[in-house]
Amino acid sequence: MSDAVQTQSNSKFKKRVFSGIQPSGGLTLGNYLGAVKRFVQLQNEEIETIYCMVDLHAITVWQDPEQLKNNTRQLAAFYIASGLNPEKSILFNQSAVSEHAELGWIFNCVARMGWMKRMTQFKDKAGKNAENASLGLFGYPALMAADILAYHATHVPVGDDQKQHLELTRDIAAKFNHDFGVDFFPMIDPVIGGPAARVMSLRDGSKKMSKSDPSDQSRINMSDDADSIAQKFRKAKTDPDALPSEELGLENRPEAKNLVAIYAALGDQSVEQVLSDVGGKQFSEFKPMLVERAVETLSPITGEMNRLMQDVSEIDRVLKDGADKARAIAAPILQRTYDIVGLLRPERS
Ligand code: AMP
Ligand code: TRP
Repeated sequence: MSDAVQTQSNSKFKKRVFSGIQPSGGLTLGNYLGAVKRFVQLQNEEIETIYCMVDLHAITVWQDPEQLKNNTRQLAAFYIASGLNPEKSILFNQSAVSEHAELGWIFNCVARMGWMKRMTQFKDKAGKNAENASLGLFGYPALMAADILAYHATHVPVGDDQKQHLELTRDIAAKFNHDFGVDFFPMIDPVIGGPAARVMSLRDGSKKMSKSDPSDQSRINMSDDADSIAQKFRKAKTDPDALPSEELGLENRPEAKNLVAIYAALGDQSVEQVLSDVGGKQFSEFKPMLVERAVETLSPITGEMNRLMQDVSEIDRVLKDGADKARAIAAPILQRTYDIVGLLRPERS
């Protein structure tokens, strides 16, 4: 992929954060620590923040229509319960703002087949039966680029698994700018990092914690109660050694490394800080500390999600309001994009 224009200056673009999560059900601790917790931190730094429930991405694989509506509201509840404030952040679902799909189409005509074929997430999701995958799943990253660039967003917080898609977003922006001789779309900066950029399975430290893992024991779900959280961490795979007092000592100990990283991320600490406290302890002593910290953080979020889901009219109101605000930013950017591409579209009243 070309990185020809990636050095262009972003100084003309105001700092603006965009990210999204698919409402495909089954939110995990990975989604919380890798994504939403960081969304909240950025919101609280007083940067302009826009967070989306990407329902158009969810339907790249089959979704039951009733479930999808419920999952979208559930994800909105998760955002709000985790600390996203609709007064500070724009919260909305992707399909409510048609500019995403419109810009997605234009980017389908900018992105190249060869770029898409290299996407590891497509290969993973399509599996052996790629011929039977939807065209939408193949084009998924072009729509993702549209989500971000429809707002001229500059910063995108995501977990480590989305890095390749963000590189593609830069390639699409660079090619568009180059082909049309403009400096219109920004070169985004990924915001990836911290101890929980990649939360691993509790059963296998070499696999990502995922809602699609067949074993429920492999993950902490945002819907798990205190007893299940305790039971899952108690049974989490470890090794027989005590915890080291320095990060180097976690090398080649993927499960130990993962539990320490989760503990650190939950408490806003670095791995080094945690190890200087718990180095020398056995897992029999460390696991109860981890359970306590996890339950303390997650239980209020789960409780608040359940409360919010009892009256979805409030969630629907937040989403409508968010969609109106999002459209107000995206519509003029789309209008200008049509003009640059040479598509005739009368200004809308
Ligand atoms: P998804 O559920 O695949 O739509 O992911 C939503 C967000 O959560 C993305 O930013 C992912 O990178 C992040 N995420 C999902 N699973 C994990 C994980 N195990 N560790 C860290 N981040 C994750
Ligand atoms: N692809 C992301 C995921 O699976 C979700 C997503 C869609 C996204 N559009 C986005 C993330 C725009 C950041 C910005 O997790």
